[in-house]
Amino acid sequence: MATRTRIVSTGMYVPSRVVTNRDLEELMDTSDEWIQQRSGIKERRWVSPGETTRGMAASASRQALERGKLKADDIDMIIFGALITDYIFPGTGVLLQRELGFSKPVPALDIRNQCSGFVYALSVADAWIRSGQYKRILIVGSEIHSTSLDLTTRGRDVSVLFGDGAGAMIVEACDEKTPHILDSCLHSEGKFADALTVIKPSANDFPRLSENTKFDTSIYPHMEGKLVFKNAVTRMCEVMTELLDRNHLRASDLNFVVAHQANMRINQMVLGELGIPFEKTHHTLDRYGNTTMATIPITFDEAVQLGKIKRGDLVAFVAFGAGFTWGANLLRY
Ligand code: UT7
Repeated sequence: MATRTRIVSTGMYVPSRVVTNRDLEELMDTSDEWIQQRSGIKERRWVSPGETTRGMAASASRQALERGKLKADDIDMIIFGALITDYIFPGTGVLLQRELGFSKPVPALDIRNQCSGFVYALSVADAWIRSGQYKRILIVGSEIHSTSLDLTTRGRDVSVLFGDGAGAMIVEACDEKTPHILDSCLHSEGKFADALTVIKPSANDFPRLSENTKFDTSIYPHMEGKLVFKNAVTRMCEVMTELLDRNHLRASDLNFVVAHQANMRINQMVLGELGIPFEKTHHTLDRYGNTTMATIPITFDEAVQLGKIKRGDLVAFVAFGAGFTWGANLLRY
């Protein structure tokens, strides 16, 4: 019987520091009303000094391990993703491995696929498990955005959107009769790479950093908001249709959709276009903002803990982000 991949357990971590829209009004020319109307965000979590990407990743991972009644050494592969990492190198995957105290030298793969990172990572984990290469994989997205945002009025279009947090998922080999991951569709379009970026510090600068380096706005995220918005709606609809069509399913067959949390209006349009009722989804955007690679595992984790997603449900994950990159996974939970 063919090997398939099932979700064992999930975990999440968000910093305790709550930053409301009103708090942002103190820092820049914005308003609670604008942020809520344009994005759906009410508050987000930002780290305090001492919190790290790897530390948040470890907390989310420990919760997933505990819920799965597993120890670190029961994992035989780590896939880690973040937009901005603890070190320039090595990747945070090995730092997470160190934090979790593995006694075996399990491989750690770092991926960089921004808001689509989790759907990419799940697809990779599923392929490895189906090939027989690994049996149990820990996938973690952990993101600290708050320390690299332009918190002046100049950066307000981007800075109000992002939050910090981590999400973890453990997947393992199973047989075909057990509910499992069914399919993944992944895409990218590099011609839009400059539409959502943080450019500096860059390897292309001579020297990369010196005492004369002048920091301009290229150290902050830059986003062509309307272009990203339009492409997010189009591509998320498109990839969901591709995924459903090639599995001979209709949108109404899905029990639940976990969509990336960048903007409530994006998700309303995508779900509306696909004809998926709002009761079949869950949002964390209002409370955590856009936590990029961590968003899908955090939102899935919450929906499972709240009993909105049950074992046996047919679930889709769909995401769009910088690159542009986008993708979707279909699974029987
Ligand atoms: O996860 C990665 C993917 N990211 C996304 O999917 C984000 C996609 N983009 C968006 O979510 C939206 O484009 C934004 C929320 C970023 C912006 O919403 P918008 O409806 O496209 O607004 P806009 O950029 O057209 O700006 C409208 C106005 C502008 O003022 P003027 O030129 O009309 O006078 C902006 O300067 O709103 C102003 N504005 C703000 N006002 C108050 C921009 N940011 C803010 C702000 N507070 N934070």
